[in-house]
Amino acid sequence: MYDDLANWWHLISAPEDYAEEAAFFLQIISDAGLAHPTTLLELGSGGGNNATHLKGTFASVTLTDLSSEMLEVSRQINPECSHIQGDMRSMRLDRLYDVVFVHDAIDYMTTLDDLEKAIATAFIHCKPGGLALFVPDHVSETFEPSTDHGGHDSADRSIRYLEWSYDPDGNDTMYTVEYVYILREGNNPVRVEHEQHICGLFHREEWLRLIEKVGFRAEVIRDNYKRDIFLVRKP
Ligand SMILES: C[S@@+](CC[C@H](N)C(=O)[O-])C[C@H]1O[C@@H](n2cnc3c(N)ncnc32)[C@H](O)[C@@H]1O
Repeated sequence: MYDDLANWWHLISAPEDYAEEAAFFLQIISDAGLAHPTTLLELGSGGGNNATHLKGTFASVTLTDLSSEMLEVSRQINPECSHIQGDMRSMRLDRLYDVVFVHDAIDYMTTLDDLEKAIATAFIHCKPGGLALFVPDHVSETFEPSTDHGGHDSADRSIRYLEWSYDPDGNDTMYTVEYVYILREGNNPVRVEHEQHICGLFHREEWLRLIEKVGFRAEVIRDNYKRDIFLVRKP
């Protein structure tokens, strides 16, 4: 999805699909009462869908991702933002930001060690008095197996996908997501692709322990999608 299929990303997941969620994130940031937040860093910004809705609020937005293909897709809709390739577990930009945002890309941290490294990257790039927002799709306490589907059409290409999430082993820190994509280009026969994503699943207490260990102060917010969002502040 994030390399060979990256140029399908905005038909898999369109920027407009993120409007409601992004408005909620902006409200959280506004309610947090930072004096004048002007700089935003996103870790794992992917195709830049959230960024299209967040960027108007900040004077400067830096978008980072492991995948150069996803950054290229994001550049097409966010040309005014900086794009930098980097792994959220180890990236160091030598710059501080008012707000560090990590949306669903945090799901790709599958061990406590990786999760701690990603939280530490956010801490290292956050200004004192600034905040970070971590938005995992699930914590262990809220995870339920689920099935979803979606996709969009453009003038000459269409995609539909099935997404199936389940947890084969309740004793580890991972769950599985199967994706099946049906890709249609012009009047050619459709192509079907399958891939499996392994994502991280951690108890709320483990999240909070790592957040505090790294040096942030945490607050848990429940959103409209029944997700636990971690709003964290750097003292
Ligand atoms: C679901 S996409 C993010 C989409 C994004 N929320 C948007 O608004 O378009 C997940 C992204 O996480 C990125 N990712 C996975 N592991 C990463 C890591 N260790 N460091 C940085 N990015 C990572 C993938 O390359 C992918 O682009």
